[in-house]
Amino acid sequence: MTETRKRAMRWSMLGVLLLSLILPVGAYFIATSPSVTAEEATNPRADYWREVRSGQQENAYTAVTEHSAGTVLIQSSGQNWRQLRNGPLATYGGMILIAALVVITLFYLLHGKVKLEHPRTGHTLLRWNSVDRLLHWVVAIGFIVLAVTGLSLLFGRALLIPVFGKEGFAAYAQIARDMHHWIAPVFAVALLLMLVLWIRNNFFNQTDVRWFAAGGGILKEGHPSAGFMNGGEKMWYWVVFFGGLAVCISGFVLYLPIFGQTRPDFQLSHLVHAGFAVLWIAASFGHVYIGTIGTEGALEGMVTGHVDESWAKQHHDLWYEEMQAKQQIHPPKEGKVSAEATGDVVSSGAS
Ligand code: HEM
Ligand code: HEM
Repeated sequence: MTETRKRAMRWSMLGVLLLSLILPVGAYFIATSPSVTAEEATNPRADYWREVRSGQQENAYTAVTEHSAGTVLIQSSGQNWRQLRNGPLATYGGMILIAALVVITLFYLLHGKVKLEHPRTGHTLLRWNSVDRLLHWVVAIGFIVLAVTGLSLLFGRALLIPVFGKEGFAAYAQIARDMHHWIAPVFAVALLLMLVLWIRNNFFNQTDVRWFAAGGGILKEGHPSAGFMNGGEKMWYWVVFFGGLAVCISGFVLYLPIFGQTRPDFQLSHLVHAGFAVLWIAASFGHVYIGTIGTEGALEGMVTGHVDESWAKQHHDLWYEEMQAKQQIHPPKEGKVSAEATGDVVSSGAS
């Protein structure tokens, strides 16, 4: 793969990600704007229903008992849930997402990309096999679709109705909800397999303690030692592990109402689902940044499976030494001039 194609691929992935997230997040501003939160018109009959809700109207009951607690006609906790969702969840959730994007942008502007300290040699190491890569990209793409569709439901009403109108938004929301529901099981299965396959790489050890003490080589000078995964990557793994558990379990509680879940169960699950999803999405910005424009040479490992020797030595020296001892460092393919090694344009196939 030529350097130009790789670069185009990185930028297009980042572009899709940013565009698809900026749109729903922007809804936060509209949701909190004075025109949207303007006082609702009062209705004199509302007092009657307030009494029903507060339990003062003794004759008020419902005969529909499915999914609800007893014969309660108006369930106050539903109102609490709605206020929590449209209030703190949407407000702080939006702030957290915007703050994460701002911090990453500032970090990039101040720190720049982590470049290779030594030129590429063209010698490569196999880092991710085809199963690893397939699982990772199914999870990554699934996550992006779930995040965009989920955020569209959480914030989009306030943002998209003014843009598309009520009917346009209703049509979009229907598609977003269906996509969310269809992608979720595929995502959950791929995530589970990926977590099981990779768990052995992600237990913390003394090397990681030293890696954190040295600020991962970013906050302090010098490159701390690391094995196959460094401390930061292991932390991301555990975010994915626990974030995945919280979001997937709460998601299935909402998705499959076949276990006798009651309304309070749905309300709690919804808040857990959307709350953890927002935190997970904010954390994912950091991972995507480091895996793309943040670190030279990282993405090609997850795309082609192989990384250059210089990258391996710089970022994962202990793993590099292990691979060297096992003679697992592959020379450049014969007849193929490595653009990476020379810095020139590849003339593959040319005689
Ligand atoms: C196993 C995977 C998942 C399942 C089963 C699932 C299921 C659901 C369900 C049933 C809803 C309610 C949709 C509706 O109102 O009809 C929902 C909403 C949502 N989901 Fe998921 N989901 C999953 C994964 C994810 C992931 C990975 C994210 C983001 C990273 C996410 C973010 C959201 C958000 C933000 C909402 C909107 C909440 C709102 O409208 O307030 N979900 N999900
Ligand atoms: C466009 C989005 C993404 C890009 C460009 C990307 C890129 C990468 C790259 C380059 C690596 C390998 C790092 C290395 O070789 O040291 C990696 C590893 C990983 N990625 Fe992603 N990724 C993306 C999205 C995701 C998402 C959404 C998740 C999970 C929800 C995820 C979970 C992981 C995990 C668990 C690892 C391995 C970390 C470990 O085992 O310690 N990635 N990613």
